[in-house]
Amino acid sequence: MIPTQATADIFLPVQAELQAVEAKLRQAALGNQHPALTSALEHLLASGGKRVRPAMALLTGRLFDADRQRTVALAAAIEMLHTATLVHDDLIDGSLLRRGLPTLNAQWTPGATVLTGDFLFARAAELATETESVRVIKEFSRTLMIIVNGEINQMFVGRGEASREGYVQRIFAKTASLFAVAAEAAAVLGGADERTITAMRSFGREVGMAFQIVDDVLDFTADATRLGKPVGSDLRQGLFTLPVLRYLERHPDDADLADLLNGHPNDAKRVERAVEAVRGSGAIADALDEAKAYVGRAQGALAPLPGSDCRRALYDLADYIVSRTT
Ligand code: IPE
Ligand code: IPE
Ligand code: MG
Ligand code: MG
Repeated sequence: MIPTQATADIFLPVQAELQAVEAKLRQAALGNQHPALTSALEHLLASGGKRVRPAMALLTGRLFDADRQRTVALAAAIEMLHTATLVHDDLIDGSLLRRGLPTLNAQWTPGATVLTGDFLFARAAELATETESVRVIKEFSRTLMIIVNGEINQMFVGRGEASREGYVQRIFAKTASLFAVAAEAAAVLGGADERTITAMRSFGREVGMAFQIVDDVLDFTADATRLGKPVGSDLRQGLFTLPVLRYLERHPDDADLADLLNGHPNDAKRVERAVEAVRGSGAIADALDEAKAYVGRAQGALAPLPGSDCRRALYDLADYIVSRTT
């Protein structure tokens, strides 16, 4: 992993634990399995990633003085689950680039890609058992059900459907639910009281909502090489994310988007024009303002907790989510 300067500073209090997570992830790629599977797993687990979810779990664990080994297992389980969802997501989205490298589905058949994702899910479950907490394992399984349901929901949503309510539900399911469990489960492992556990779940959820909004913004504003994954892909797939919803509020009569909304064939030129229009409009700032509001609520959830370097780092992690460029 090559952390950015911003995250390197924020992750400092749990640097050693993050290294333990990396080691655990690498170890999880080994086993008595087909060599093709081993090399795919090594490729996936060594290709980096920002590691924001494990960092959130580790910082929360430290905040509540949770057992180090169990928290490391939780953080590794969460990153493993995240990796599994990316493998399946890229196949579903037809994405050929992830973390600057070709995706599995760019090289392998859909069948082999699905099975590799399944293997990662199983590994994630195995790591979750190392927390030795039935409550955590249960929440972990429930989260996976929420994520899968969210992705199914997104697949069945009408092309170009533009509903804010649907959007909020989808981003909770596919992204914020995993952030929520990262913070919640670490607080459970630390033996925090129920009110505090709920507060930490809210913290994770609100950060996760902001995270996906920013991901949706970057799909319009970022450069694919720097981002390490394709851009403009949401609209190309007929997915109306927050920047588009905010753009439609400002320009309800936009002909290209109206055509996309009405299910006209989304020819490349029309999509490119729409992407340019959204990118150059105030809708980007509008969407980022919404992400900042989620971050503010996340930080509010931390307010009752005693001050410490870990609380500060969680606060900064929330800020980083909206300032990030990758
Ligand atoms: C990408 O997550 C998938 C989303 C939920 C938006 P990340 O942006 O955390 O991906 P990596 O792990 O850093 O590559
Ligand atoms: C990813 O959402 C959600 C999950 C991984 C479940 P996106 O489809 O927006 O993520 P990227 O942009 O491909 O990373
Ligand atoms: Mg995707
Ligand atoms: Mg995206």
